[in-house]
Amino acid sequence: MRYSAQKGTRDILPSEIIAWHKAEETFSRVCHRFGYEEIRIPTFEQTDLFQRGVGDTTDVVQKEMYTFEDKGGRSISLRPEGTAGVVRSFIENGMGSLPSPVRLFYNITAFRYEKMQKGRFREFHQFGLEAFGAQGPDIDAEIISVLRVFFNEMGLKSIKLCINSIGCPTCRKAYNDSLRDYFRPHLEEMCYDCKSRFEKNPLRMIDCKVPECKVIAANAPKLIDHLCDDCKAHFEGLKERLDNIGIEYSIDPNIVRGLDYYTRTVFEFVSENVGSQGTICGGGRYDGLVESMGGTAVPGIGFAMGVERFMLEANSQGVDFGKTDYVKVYLANLSDKASMVINKLAYELRLKGVGCEVDLCQRSFRAQMKYAGKAGIPYVVVIGDDELDKGEVSIKRMSDGTSNTVALSNFVEYCMNEL
Ligand code: HAM
Repeated sequence: MRYSAQKGTRDILPSEIIAWHKAEETFSRVCHRFGYEEIRIPTFEQTDLFQRGVGDTTDVVQKEMYTFEDKGGRSISLRPEGTAGVVRSFIENGMGSLPSPVRLFYNITAFRYEKMQKGRFREFHQFGLEAFGAQGPDIDAEIISVLRVFFNEMGLKSIKLCINSIGCPTCRKAYNDSLRDYFRPHLEEMCYDCKSRFEKNPLRMIDCKVPECKVIAANAPKLIDHLCDDCKAHFEGLKERLDNIGIEYSIDPNIVRGLDYYTRTVFEFVSENVGSQGTICGGGRYDGLVESMGGTAVPGIGFAMGVERFMLEANSQGVDFGKTDYVKVYLANLSDKASMVINKLAYELRLKGVGCEVDLCQRSFRAQMKYAGKAGIPYVVVIGDDELDKGEVSIKRMSDGTSNTVALSNFVEYCMNEL
């Protein structure tokens, strides 16, 4: 029996890991620079949390959750995203009493039972952040700038920012009525889900993925044309702030986002290169979520970026992440006596923070050199009986063949300072 990875899951192989390390390290560094602190939340929560948090009329909750009963008879779901869990933690840990805004970032796996496509997986990774307690559009512009700084530091040249506003419950109420008026004559031609969304949450009919529904939804009235005065002012405020710091954007009235908690600002960073799954990152404001999940009324905003999609985009833009250089020197072994000295030196080097490798497979000298070359180790030192007698070794830089002679007694220090 040969096993293969489950549909929708994939291994991240050592050849890719430098890119992942760089992205993780950069995201964390950029978030810290803006005052965000990392939070780690559990992989699973009680199912009800996502039904209430993400919304039980969304595709994510209705169709895509990995839900099971645990041995104690509880309904558990693997997190399909991070916001609901972070909000649960914010409330449960009393973070509402901390000075505002409370800024949190995360690096998580998420799980959605979706049809596989390029850039769409069943287990995937998200870098995300959430900020609680800031009402005005300054924070909206700030979290967008976190992403711009991140993309910039990762060497991405172009990713398009699209923004929209989907209003608040006040403007949504009047808008829902006009949506129902629009959809009513088409209802018979629409899918079963849309029929059930019609009364409960007609906004969800706009992002239905069924082709016939998509055609009908294309001409539906846009929320941005129905904003109340406060929401209009908030959106104008965001545009003004983005203009002020020089972040370019387009207004896309079709962004409604697939999760129920959003209010006012919504945005996406999209690419032309990642195929139909071109949204690399999505987010927005959720001013009613904390209260609806049992906390006090605190405004919130955040985003999540699909890391696999980010990697596809970075590769298609030709970003070079370089190679790992953890191992600096290979200690080639010419005799049994030398092997004891080499093992001691290697241990000391590693204690002092210098990466090195030694032969563990009884290779011939030639085979050891071939191995070091193939592994791309930048320096090689050969140690045999002659070197032990002289108390000197020669360190060769593989890129240009130049050598340096060093006393064995000084070898570890030399490697620490010079390699
Ligand atoms: P979302 O738009 O559902 O938002 O997901 C965010 C990003 O995760 C997407 O733009 C996409 O890049 C990636 N993504 C989603 N599903 C998949 C998948 N099946 N395979 C690969 N990548 C995927 C959220 O999750 C919200 N929690 C974002 C947020 C945070 N809003 C406010 N705070």
